[in-house]
Amino acid sequence: MKVVTLTVVFLLVTACHHNSKPEASLFDQMGGLPVIEKITENLIDRLLSNEKIAFLFKETVREDLHEKIVDQLCQESGGPCQYEGLDMVEAHSGQDIKYSEFDLFVTDFIHAMEDAGVSYQHQNAMLAIFAPMREDVTHQ
Ligand code: HEM
Repeated sequence: MKVVTLTVVFLLVTACHHNSKPEASLFDQMGGLPVIEKITENLIDRLLSNEKIAFLFKETVREDLHEKIVDQLCQESGGPCQYEGLDMVEAHSGQDIKYSEFDLFVTDFIHAMEDAGVSYQHQNAMLAIFAPMREDVTHQ
């Protein structure tokens, strides 16, 4: 009897485990591609009108940067995209980006997420992914 009970419990536990859905990706939790598009739109708007760093983007083709940022934000947050741009060192080498400029970029990124309706918790999760790229992007 004991063995039967244990077997039933085991089967139930494994069945439940099997059925439990994997946790949704950060990408899905934030609202998927429409939200990533909005964040990117807001971010580029802010960068281009940020008088302290806009000069760095004077030769930028907006649509190209938009596409790359969308793919990168999507991929890094666990979404179904493939970033095919330059790696972060290549993309920013020769621009002599300072820590202070990186901080301005991050502030613009936070506002871009805020304005896209991303929760504080998800903003932090995104920052945890992108903040460690500072050393690749900057040249202090
Ligand atoms: C974690 C922080 C950052 C991320 C994730 C990021 C991401 C990117 C990506 C994906 C590209 C496109 C690369 C390609 O063309 O293949 C790019 C280009 C660029 N980024 Fe960043 N970036 C970051 C920080 C910064 C900062 C702090 C600045 C300046 C203040 C900056 C300025 C630029 C510029 C000027 C370009 C070149 C745009 C062009 O092609 O004309 N980035 N970045």
